[in-house]
Amino acid sequence: MKNILVTGGAGFIGSNFIHFLLKTEPKVNIINLDAFTYAGTLENLKDLPDVDRHTLVNGNICDQDLLADLFQRYAIDTVVHFAAESHVDRSISGPGPFIQTNIAGTYMLLEAARSYWAGQRIPQG
Ligand SMILES: NC(=O)c1ccc[n+]([C@@H]2O[C@H](COP(=O)([O-])OP(=O)(O)OC[C@H]3O[C@@H](n4cnc5c(N)ncnc54)[C@H](O)[C@@H]3O)[C@@H](O)[C@H]2O)c1
Repeated sequence: MKNILVTGGAGFIGSNFIHFLLKTEPKVNIINLDAFTYAGTLENLKDLPDVDRHTLVNGNICDQDLLADLFQRYAIDTVVHFAAESHVDRSISGPGPFIQTNIAGTYMLLEAARSYWAGQRIPQG
């Protein structure tokens, strides 16, 4: 089984990706991390093809401790990153959350992956 961390999986593209993956790939477990901003909704996750292979976590990609725990707990081997501030009009009236999620959050996610996977490597020699 592959253990895939999908971020922003309650949003438009992420939720469609999860529906598609559960339907077409029998050997995946999905951990769906979403902060449920104005854009994320449980409506998008109704009628998933196989709920037993979907774990929903209500949390923020900027939360380093949560990320470290998820990588460890679910032995994540793949990340698909959709979590974002995505509404351009909002970026003009209030850019702060965009910087936080899209830049700092993406960095924290990458760093959590690097740190966890570096620890998984088998030492050579
Ligand atoms: N929708 C499009 O047509 C389109 C086209 C090209 C690229 N994209 C890109 O794909 C990505 C996803 O787009 P979308 O349309 O699904 O956006 P969306 O706004 O519908 O979904 C984003 C999801 O991310 C979640 N989220 C926001 N901040 C978070 C945080 N800090 N931690 C965890 N979750 C958080 C939201 O709750 C939401 O569920 C974005 O990067 C977007 O720019 C979208």
